[in-house]
Amino acid sequence: MLRLYFFISLMCLVKSDTDETCPSFTRLSFHSAVVGTGLNVKLMLYTRRNQTCAQVINSTVLGNLNVTKKTTFIVHGFRPTGSAPVWMEDLVQGLLYVEDMNVVVVDWNRGATTVIYNHASSKTRKVAGVLKKFIDQMLVQGASLDDIYMIGVSLGAHIAGFVGKMYNGQLGRITGLDPAGPLFNGRPPEERLDPGDAQFVDVIHSDIDALGYKEPLGNIDFYPNGGLDQPGCPKTILGGLRYFKCDHQRSVYLYLSSLRENCSITAYPCDSYRDYRNGKCVNCGIPQKESCPLLGYYADNWKEYLKQKDPPMTKAFFDTAKEEPYCIYHYFVDIITWNKNIRRGSMTIKLRDRAGNITESRINHEPAVFQKYHQVSLLARFNQDLDKVATISLVFSTGSVIGPKYKLRILRMKLRSLAHPERPQLCRYDLVLMENIETVFQPILCPKLLM
Ligand SMILES: *[C@@H]1O[C@H](CO)[C@@H](O)[C@H](O)[C@H]1NC(C)=O
Ligand SMILES: *[C@@H]1O[C@H](CO)[C@@H](O)[C@H](O)[C@H]1NC(C)=O
Ligand SMILES: *[C@@H]1O[C@H](CO)[C@@H](O)[C@H](O)[C@H]1NC(C)=O
Ligand SMILES: *[C@@H]1O[C@H](CO)[C@@H](O)[C@H](O)[C@H]1NC(C)=O
Ligand SMILES: *[C@@H]1O[C@H](CO)[C@@H](O)[C@H](O)[C@H]1NC(C)=O
Repeated sequence: MLRLYFFISLMCLVKSDTDETCPSFTRLSFHSAVVGTGLNVKLMLYTRRNQTCAQVINSTVLGNLNVTKKTTFIVHGFRPTGSAPVWMEDLVQGLLYVEDMNVVVVDWNRGATTVIYNHASSKTRKVAGVLKKFIDQMLVQGASLDDIYMIGVSLGAHIAGFVGKMYNGQLGRITGLDPAGPLFNGRPPEERLDPGDAQFVDVIHSDIDALGYKEPLGNIDFYPNGGLDQPGCPKTILGGLRYFKCDHQRSVYLYLSSLRENCSITAYPCDSYRDYRNGKCVNCGIPQKESCPLLGYYADNWKEYLKQKDPPMTKAFFDTAKEEPYCIYHYFVDIITWNKNIRRGSMTIKLRDRAGNITESRINHEPAVFQKYHQVSLLARFNQDLDKVATISLVFSTGSVIGPKYKLRILRMKLRSLAHPERPQLCRYDLVLMENIETVFQPILCPKLLM
């Protein structure tokens, strides 16, 4: 009992202590969401000098904001329960880690918190108005629009777009993280985020069949895993609350991963996800990656290249792993067969290195067609990048349960890394795969082509 009492008083102490010195994101109860909240926008400034303790600022008091530096605004979206966004702190810290800048958290939780989405949506123009007033003051103090960057999540992406329109597209950059779809889908450019809203607009679409926006909205639109279902997210309502927000939130986590140093995600400009899966869009030019932008914070390194296009809009696709770090490693598996008849089926490829690490890729999104003496290039995607492959295994399957078991007669198979084209290519000649039976072999170095 006494212990409990101490614990409670300690908690009160900690709470009141932080309340006094460090302002925090507005936290509301579900009750507020039910009765609705009036709009109140709070701006919280974080800098490298004041990294964990925010300073509340407004259009009359800019506080420690240094107008000669870049300023990044983070604008959240609809908050159906009143809670604070779980990713906010990581995003603030991640941005300050990569660059010495001002980070302003735009806390419009009073306004975004309501169970009725339309009510939150109807406040987006007003939030944009508050930000306009604040930025005007920054400009008076000597800031440049070039240095203003807005990251908008869901409804926040359209808010960023509305601010950008008020400056005729002169803001430095806007990043839209799964811009909200409902009530915005199909709207004209004046009523949503649009490529003309900033000098560079990049967008990640991770939930185009539910909460996100389907069509392109920026100079570059990234569609992870095709933009639909994200790996690792619950597929049914049995997954609970995560079922509703996991795909939508993935855009934020993918962006966050670009601020860390674990892996960088390359995206492949392409007309469709299907073409990307079929390996039609993975040639990025020389030097490697010249035409394939990185996802996230560093996407603006491709700004000049992307803006040359007419119209200046590019769709880019890539697949991800189901958890951090999200990147996967692409390889081409080139296969030449010599069966008399055409064979159609899927292929599973496993790589094993000398240390015993194993990584697997299933190529089964659509049947590969193997025709005598024609080379088929399958795009394989692995979760691990094994540098020294010791053995390869292949399983061929036609997917039919009944009927005869087929053989696939391989004249030559070749494995080549896309991320590291300089690595030696691995080959194997004369193999016969029995359907659904794993064939394990040691590859040899492919002979170098004489140029
Ligand atoms: C950090 O912010 C707090 C509260 O907003 C302020 O009292 C303090 O002076 C700031 N520290 C620095 C180094 O600017
Ligand atoms: C800005 O903040 C200061 C100090 O926190 C406060 O006195 C002032 O009324 C605020 N101005 C506006 C326009 O909210
Ligand atoms: C503002 O930033 C510039 C460099 O970006 C720096 O030279 C200057 O000292 C900073 N001002 C303050 C008051 O910290
Ligand atoms: C990713 O890198 C960051 C540091 O940049 C580290 O703190 C984090 O633990 C890493 N995460 C994973 C899953 O490796
Ligand atoms: C492979 O295995 C070794 C030893 O078990 C481990 O240290 C390493 O991180 C693994 N992963 C890769 C990608 O090599």
